[in-house]
Amino acid sequence: MKVLKQWAELETPFYAYDRQVLHHALQRAKTAAEKRNYHVHYALKANAEANLLQSIVEMGFGADCVSGQEVECAVESGFAAEKIVFAGVGKSDREIRYALENDIYCFNCESLQELEVIDQLAASMGKVARVALRINPDVDPNTHRYITTGLEENKFGINVWQLEETLARLQTLNALQLEGLHFHIGSQITDLSAFRNLCTRVNEIQRWFFDRQIVPNHVNLGGGLGIDYDRPAASDDPDFEAYFSIFERFLEPRPHQSIHFELGRALVGHCGALISKVLYVKPGIKTDFVILDAGMTELIRPALYQAYHRIENLSKSGQPIAPKKYDVVGPICESSDCFGKAVELPQTERGDWVAIHTAGAYGQVMASRYNLRPFVPAVWTD
Ligand code: LLP
Repeated sequence: MKVLKQWAELETPFYAYDRQVLHHALQRAKTAAEKRNYHVHYALKANAEANLLQSIVEMGFGADCVSGQEVECAVESGFAAEKIVFAGVGKSDREIRYALENDIYCFNCESLQELEVIDQLAASMGKVARVALRINPDVDPNTHRYITTGLEENKFGINVWQLEETLARLQTLNALQLEGLHFHIGSQITDLSAFRNLCTRVNEIQRWFFDRQIVPNHVNLGGGLGIDYDRPAASDDPDFEAYFSIFERFLEPRPHQSIHFELGRALVGHCGALISKVLYVKPGIKTDFVILDAGMTELIRPALYQAYHRIENLSKSGQPIAPKKYDVVGPICESSDCFGKAVELPQTERGDWVAIHTAGAYGQVMASRYNLRPFVPAVWTD
C-alpha cells in the first residue's frame, strides 16, 4: 500500500477503502452464490458506510439487520424490503413496528416471548409477520469466545429443547407465518469443518420439523466465513467457492426451500485500512512504543478480541526492519489501547504514515467517541 497524494490534505486518522477490492469480493461471492441459487443478505453490522452500501445494493444483495436503525439504514440505502431480514435477541416494540410498516421479508426470532410480542404488534397493525425461528444448534465454531453465538450457553436463538413448546405456541399465533429456520454459529470462522457440522445439525432439525409435517420456505445459515488477516487485500480470500460448496455437499434442503446466507466480514473485510500517523516514538524496556494518532476508538478489535491486524509503516516501505521491535499503541487512556505488541517495523519516526490493514469489517462501524474523540471519517480510492 502507498501513501496517496490526495491524503496530504487530510487529517489522520481515517479509513481508506478500495472500491476495486470491494467489487472483486462482491463479484466473487455473487458468482459462487448464484451458481447454486443461494441468496446472500449482507450483514450491515460489519460496515454501514454509505458508499459501501451503495455498491452492495447495486450488486443485488439483500440485507441482514440487527437493530431498527440498521433496518432503517437498509431501507434508506435502497435494499429491497423483500430482501431484508431482521435478527437480534432484543428487538424493541418500536423497532418491530418500523420493520412491520416497511414489510421486510422476515424476522429472525430468538425467543418464544419475542414471537408473542411480534404477533401482538402485527395483529394491532392488521398485518401478518413472516418469521423464521433462530435455532441455537449447539455447534462449536472454533473462534474467539466473544464472537461464538451457536453454543447452548450463548444468549442467541431458541434451544432445541424449547422447540416443541415454541412450535405449539406458534401455531396459535394468527398474525405470524412461519417462513424459515435461521442459524448463525459465530464469526471469523476459518475452520470450514464447523460449517459441515452445522449442516449435519440443520439436517437433523429439519427432520424434526418434517416429522411434524412442517417444511419452512427457507433455511438461513447465517454468516461467519472468516478472512485471512495475514494477507491484506488478498484477491483470492476468502474462498467463497469452498464455503458454499460445503453447504452444497452436506446440507439436505427440502424441495422448493430457498437457501440464504448473511455474510458480513467476508464481503468487506479486505477493502479497508485504518490510516494513521505516528505522533511519538518513546523508548521502552524490551520494545519501544510507536504512539499513533489512531486508537481503540477508531479500531477496537485488537483491544476487545486480541485480534491481529497487519501493521505497515507506509513511509518506510521496503526499508530494513529496525533492530528493536515496537509496541504500536494509540493515544487513549487505556492500556488495552494497543494495536500490536513486539511488531517488526522499519526504523519508525514521528510523522510516518501507518496503515492498519484488513479493517473493512467491524472497524469504522464500531468506532466510539470515548475520550470525546470525533468519529473517524472515510475516504475512497479506485
Ligand atoms: N448474522 C448474524 C445473526 C450475526 O450475528 C452476524 C455477526 C452475521 C450474520 C455476520 O457475521 P460475519 O459474516 O460478519 O462473520 N465485532 C466482531 C464480529 C461480531 C459478529 C456479530 N455477528 C469482530 O470484530 O470480529
